[in-house]
Amino acid sequence: MGAREVGLPDVVPSSRELPSRVTIWEVGARDGLQNESVVVPVAVKLEFLDRLASAGLSVLEATSFVHPKWVPQLADAAELLDGLVQRPGVTYPVLVPNERGLDRALEAGVQHIAIFASATETFASRNLNRTLESQFEMFEPTVARALAAGMDVRGYVSMCFGDPWEGAVSRAQVVGVGERLLEMGCSQLSLGDTIGVATPGQVEALLGGFGDVSRLAVHFHDTYGQALSNTLAALRCGVTTVDSSAGGLGGCPYAESATGNLATEDLVWMLDGLGVETGVDLDKLVETSVWMAERLGRPSPSRVVRALGK
Ligand code: HMG
Ligand code: MG
Repeated sequence: MGAREVGLPDVVPSSRELPSRVTIWEVGARDGLQNESVVVPVAVKLEFLDRLASAGLSVLEATSFVHPKWVPQLADAAELLDGLVQRPGVTYPVLVPNERGLDRALEAGVQHIAIFASATETFASRNLNRTLESQFEMFEPTVARALAAGMDVRGYVSMCFGDPWEGAVSRAQVVGVGERLLEMGCSQLSLGDTIGVATPGQVEALLGGFGDVSRLAVHFHDTYGQALSNTLAALRCGVTTVDSSAGGLGGCPYAESATGNLATEDLVWMLDGLGVETGVDLDKLVETSVWMAERLGRPSPSRVVRALGK
């Protein structure tokens, strides 16, 4: 259903400050499911990914090759990739923290990986069992080997705005960590508001700290209801890749205050309204999130899924 069906005027053309097209980096199957208390069967994950592809999403972050004891929800990563029927035109990146994860990804025939760094000392320790500095020692050989194998590598930076243990995070610290990942050879940097505390002015300020916005993506969690506003601020700064999760699934098991990601449906509703192309069929996506909510036994937190879902 679009704006017309609910009695709104036709699409308002985007202002010149907005991009004409946005790439949605769908993280529901990874960031979403890693934080569910139930372990979703692999067959359900595969159907979820296929439905997301059929709804027009072209980047589906599929799973993580992390230690299975750290994230048991994604312990089936190898089995998932073995059963995955990859659709043409769709990429299926996976999270990899270290060389052991890379070995597993290579064995599974993966071509796109993402490493994930922390902007703060405490989260580096809690999420990666490393210090802020030693996380780079883990990433450097991982990225070098991945690039030599012809893989594409994305870099995440977590806790870019606030950290539950350390409070506000300085822009210089985030930019410093991010630039090291870019220098290592990451093709794109995704800036994560892991606990969802940022507001739009802070987003503009952080993006302004990087010389080149074209390699940046944004990753907002919606804890304080700011994810959509923050996304709009980022688009106005020139960002054209936005992370979100179908139905607003998500969180991070190593940061309790992290709730779900920006819901892909909420993002698509806003972008449709602004005349910004995403290639996503909103009806199919809402159907998928309603279906997944039934599997998880709880309603989707997405406002748009609740408004349009039956
Ligand atoms: P560690 O305990 O320091 O690992 O954990 P280690 O290197 O000391 O190795 C210990 C044992 O684990 C060894 O086995 C390794 O082989 C094995 P042993 O020799 O004792 O038998 N091992 C592995 N096994 C399978 N796969 C692996 C792996 N690595 C080592 N990849 C480690 C370090 C990084 C592995 C651990 O801390 C970990 O898995 N952390 C992942 C936590 C995680 O996934 N968090 C959520 C994702 S981040 C996020 O959600 C934020 C994001 O969405 C952006 C945002 O919102 O900001 C991306
Ligand atoms: Mg996240």
